Amino acid sequence: MQIHALSARDEAFVRQGAAILEEAFPHSYEGEGVEEMRKLLGAERILLAAVEEGENGALLGLIGAIPQYGVTGWELHPLAVREGFRGRGVGSALVKALEKACAERGCVTLYLGTDDEEGKTSLSQGDLFENPLEKLQNIVNLRRHPFEFYQKRGFAIVGTIPDANGPGKPDIYMAKRLRPLPGEG
Ligand SMILES: CC(C)(COP(=O)(O)OP(=O)(O)OC[C@H]1O[C@@H](n2cnc3c(N)ncnc32)[C@H](O)[C@@H]1OP(=O)(O)O)[C@@H](O)C(=O)NCCC(=O)NCCS
Repeated sequence: MQIHALSARDEAFVRQGAAILEEAFPHSYEGEGVEEMRKLLGAERILLAAVEEGENGALLGLIGAIPQYGVTGWELHPLAVREGFRGRGVGSALVKALEKACAERGCVTLYLGTDDEEGKTSLSQGDLFENPLEKLQNIVNLRRHPFEFYQKRGFAIVGTIPDANGPGKPDIYMAKRLRPLPGEG
């Protein structure tokens, strides 16, 4: 597998990327994958592709980032690995490559919001406005919500927006420091 920056000229990969987005996030991108890919290819953003080895290697997954706080704070968006190729380290390799690309552009903190719209974590149960910080601390993964994938990659849970996607459907904020504190490292 190779990881490289995606270009709008890679028409075949743009189409494959659109299909991966529609498959991974049908509620957000059904029928709009190509349009979203065009946005992700915006000049100020980063978009990386994991591609199978070989001349006509297929797209296995993609990851992007958007600068949101000058150059110091970047939002990881999106990350998706093609179905059938998950659980083989593709997602981890994409996160690692994105961290390098963001750090090279001055990123100090890489962060993301990971929604729980399908009751996959304990945060979907009860009123999250009551003791939200305690509930975040005691979060339980009920049905393979990806927050654990990000924890394994060194991201910490740093916040939540209760009901962001509707009642019982919070967004979970996670962040990772990419540059050592002054005096460390
Ligand atoms: C989440 C996703 C990107 C992970 O990519 P992947 O290539 O399957 O992940 P990896 O193979 O690199 O997995 C690395 C580790 O994370 C774990 N992991 C992966 N997905 C996980 C999940 N949903 N829940 C809990 N753990 C998970 C793996 O078991 C593995 O653990 P290990 O190192 O102890 O063996 C991929 O499953 C995907 O595209 N899912 C659909 C889209 C999505 O949810 N994107 C994130 C939205 S915020």
